[in-house]
Amino acid sequence: MIIDPSKQDLRANYKLLIGAVLPRPIAFVSTVDADGNPNLAPFSFFTGATPAPPTVVFAPLRRFSDGQEKDTLCNIRATGEFVVNVVTEDIVELANDTAMEFAPGVSEFAETGLTPVPCEVVKAPRVGESPISMECKLIQVVDLGPEAAGGGSLVIGEVLRFHVRDDLIEDGRIDTGALHPVGRLAGAEYTTLGRRFTLERKR
Ligand SMILES: Cc1cc2nc3c(=O)[nH]c(=O)nc-3n(C[C@H](O)[C@H](O)[C@H](O)COP(=O)(O)O)c2cc1C
Repeated sequence: MIIDPSKQDLRANYKLLIGAVLPRPIAFVSTVDADGNPNLAPFSFFTGATPAPPTVVFAPLRRFSDGQEKDTLCNIRATGEFVVNVVTEDIVELANDTAMEFAPGVSEFAETGLTPVPCEVVKAPRVGESPISMECKLIQVVDLGPEAAGGGSLVIGEVLRFHVRDDLIEDGRIDTGALHPVGRLAGAEYTTLGRRFTLERKR
């Protein structure tokens, strides 16, 4: 089957994207608004980009309900900062809860009981229960698509600090098995790590 995305609506194209690009890692993004109120939300259109400088990218879409930008993006535009916290099996249910639409200014930390821990160089707190957090400075927001539902933005950030729980790192390598990361699939489905295998790079 060949599908021309210009011949179908944004929800149908969204379903193809989330079904084709997976499993996706989840950026659990903490920010503060201009008044310092914290906000927390998961984003699975997320990846790392370059190591020099260490760069991460994620994509907050406009809300399907009203076409407005999400609080996370508004806060990043206002402050130029954010924190990416890694979602693990221990906190995935709470991370899922933070994706509810709370009014701007409502703290998802307070709503879920997750612990806001002060960061070293950015104002937003990190999630104390997450074993890895990345303090980020905004490099650029790239707006994509219409200023309406279906459009969105790419947020590109430079990692200024990595916080890694001590027992997870040895010789600079993170112990994937001990981390218990969670990925997002299509719809409401998530995944944990399945069978892992190694393929050596051919020269
Ligand atoms: C696991 C998971 C992944 C998500 N990934 C994205 C994403 O990549 N982009 C997006 O715009 N929304 C995504 N969402 C929805 C947002 O988290 C949700 O709209 C949230 O309310 C936004 O919060 P905010 O308005 O406080 O920024 C995801 C939700 C979940 C549960």
